[in-house]
Amino acid sequence: MSIIDGKKVASHIKDKLAAEVKILKTKTGKTPGLAVVLVGDDPASAVYVKNKNKTCTNIGFQSFEHILSENTSEDKLLNLINDLNNDDQVNGILVQLPLPSHISSKKILVAINPQKDVDGFHLENVGRLVTGNALFKPCTPAGIIKLLDEYKIEIEGKNAVIIGRSNIVGKPVSFLLLERNATVTICHSRTKDLSSLSRSADILIAAIGKPNFVTPDMVKNNAVVIDVGINRLDGKLVGDVDFASVSKQASFITPVPGGVGPMTIAMLMENTFQAFKNSL
Ligand code: GUN
Repeated sequence: MSIIDGKKVASHIKDKLAAEVKILKTKTGKTPGLAVVLVGDDPASAVYVKNKNKTCTNIGFQSFEHILSENTSEDKLLNLINDLNNDDQVNGILVQLPLPSHISSKKILVAINPQKDVDGFHLENVGRLVTGNALFKPCTPAGIIKLLDEYKIEIEGKNAVIIGRSNIVGKPVSFLLLERNATVTICHSRTKDLSSLSRSADILIAAIGKPNFVTPDMVKNNAVVIDVGINRLDGKLVGDVDFASVSKQASFITPVPGGVGPMTIAMLMENTFQAFKNSL
């Protein structure tokens, strides 16, 4: 069994980006900029936002942090997005999800200029992704594909089973795998006989947010197991996969932390750099 080191891969990507940013800065006098918007004080979201800002600074991006109170109105948030859309220093806009329940995330996401939608969540960008014309691939799904490629894990012709059908991970990663000629199955809370489907997976992706949900009886011998979950259990971070037992059976497995998580931020930086280059 090999452990897929997402931290190392992400670190290489960020180093490469930092070097490219430096060159383009000298050439153009301009700096890539990412605006991150957080509404409310969910502690997990606050940690993600802090990490995004720190990474921006480390690789030479400008970071614009907008932290708004939980009771911010939808109109106020729409106004902010409008300002960011019109700000030339801002190449990428990310609105941290989930939003408080009085704000329609659908309405907010379509207000973002698709050219600055580095999360790839705008309906136009979703349509582009589904048809194989993505402007920006959603960060966690793109990070998963990058990890598979980096470890030379073949995708074409493989059975890929995804547990979880979220708009952020499950659905978009399915389309990316399909684009790479995998045979894709999406499982969810109403799926009947999940274990027999997951046992057919050459590549098994767990993205449901349930600690240690995937157990060895659900995994084929020598499967590649990608764990997207980040759950807090007894003060410790654990994934959706029971790593201790499943790792004995998998050919490759991502750890939590240090697997998919760091890749999400690295891909966000890549998308922002792409948006910056597109703007030049
Ligand atoms: N919440 C959890 N994951 C993500 C993500 O990738 N992007 C945004 N905007 N919010 C998230």
